[in-house]
Amino acid sequence: MPDTLTKLAYQTFQQGKQAFGYTHKTLINRLREVVSPVEPGSTSKIPASTLSLLKQRLDELTEVDWQDAEAGVYPASLLFDNPWDDFFKYYPMLVFDTPSVWERSKKKQYQDFGADVDTDGYPSYYVQNFHHQTDGYLSDMSANLYDLQVELLFNGAADPMRRRILAPLKRHLDNLTGNPKVLDVACGTGRTLKMIRDTLPQASPYGVDLSPTYLRKANELLSQEPGTLPQLIQANAEALPYLDNYFEATVSVFLFHELPADVRQTVINECYRVTKPGGVFIICDSIQKSDNPEFAPMMDNFPSVFHEPYYRHYSTDDMQSRLESAGFHSVEVSNHFMSKYWVAKKG
Ligand SMILES: C[S@@+](CC[C@H](N)C(=O)[O-])C[C@H]1O[C@@H](n2cnc3c(N)ncnc32)[C@H](O)[C@@H]1O
Repeated sequence: MPDTLTKLAYQTFQQGKQAFGYTHKTLINRLREVVSPVEPGSTSKIPASTLSLLKQRLDELTEVDWQDAEAGVYPASLLFDNPWDDFFKYYPMLVFDTPSVWERSKKKQYQDFGADVDTDGYPSYYVQNFHHQTDGYLSDMSANLYDLQVELLFNGAADPMRRRILAPLKRHLDNLTGNPKVLDVACGTGRTLKMIRDTLPQASPYGVDLSPTYLRKANELLSQEPGTLPQLIQANAEALPYLDNYFEATVSVFLFHELPADVRQTVINECYRVTKPGGVFIICDSIQKSDNPEFAPMMDNFPSVFHEPYYRHYSTDDMQSRLESAGFHSVEVSNHFMSKYWVAKKG
C-alpha cells in the first residue's frame, strides 16, 4: 500500500478508536448520573482548553507513531494490531460489570474480591481493586477486560504509548549480535512483549508479572502467532527471579504509578541488578505534574476516579533520582500525550 494510503488508514483507525472511547465514556457517564451519581465536588471540572490540548497531544502521538513505522523502526502492521475478537467478545461483559465498579467506588471498597479469588501470598499493596476493577488483577475476567478498559480510558492510545519504548530499545539492541535477552517487568497481558517480538525478532523476550491470570492471557496472545514464545514467570518485581547482569535490556510499562514509593525504589534496584553492564532500562508510565501543569486537574482526579492509591505520590516523584541512586546513568526523559519515558544506561 502506498505510504499516504497507509497513513490515512492509520489515522482513520485511530480516530475510530478515539470516537469509540469518547462515545463509550459519554454514554456510561450519562447512565451513571441517573443510576449512581457521584457526590458533587468530588472531582474538579476539566476546562475545555485542557481537553483541546489533550486532543492535540493525542494527534502528535499518532503522528510520531506513524513516523516511526514509516522509518522502519517497527512494521506498519503493528499500527493496526488490535485484539478485535476480544473487544467484541468482552465489551458486553465490561458494560454489565460497570454498575459493580460504581458501587465499589461509591462504597470505597478497595479490597473486594470474589470468594473464588485466592489473595494469599501477594503483597498487601497489590491486593486491591486498582481502577475499582472487579477482582483487582486476580481473575480471568479481569485479565479479559483489561486491554479493552485501557483502550477506552486512553481513547485508543495505549498501544501507541507502549510503542514509544521501541525506538530506544531497537537503537540499543541493533548494535548487538546474537539473541539479546529483553525482560518486560509487569508484562500484564503481553502487549508490549508482542510489539518487542514483532520489532526485534532476533531478541529473546522474557516477561514477569505477579498475576497468574494476566500471564495466562499473555501466553494466549503470544502463542497465537509464530515467533519466539517469551518465557513468562509469575514473580514479584521486588525480587526478580534472574541472575545478576542477565538482560541486555529491561523495560517496564505502566507499572511504577501502581507501586508505593519504597517499592518503586526496590523494583528499580532489581531492574538495575538484572540488567547487564552496558545495558539499557526503559520505563513508560504516566506523565507527572511537572511535565504538564495544565493537566494537573486531571492528575488530581485520576487517583480517586480510578482508585490508584499510589498515583498521587508518583505524580511528583523524582524518578530520575531513583534511577541514579540505583546506579543507572545518562537518563534521557521524554513525554508523549499522557505518558512519560525514562531511558537509563547501566555501566
Ligand atoms: C497497569 S498494569 C500494566 C500491565 C502492562 N505492562 C501493560 O502495559 O498494560 C500493572 C501490572 O503490574 C503488575 N504488577 C503490579 N505490581 C507488581 C509487582 N510487585 N511485581 C510484578 N508485577 C506487578 C500487575 O499484575 C499488572 O499486570
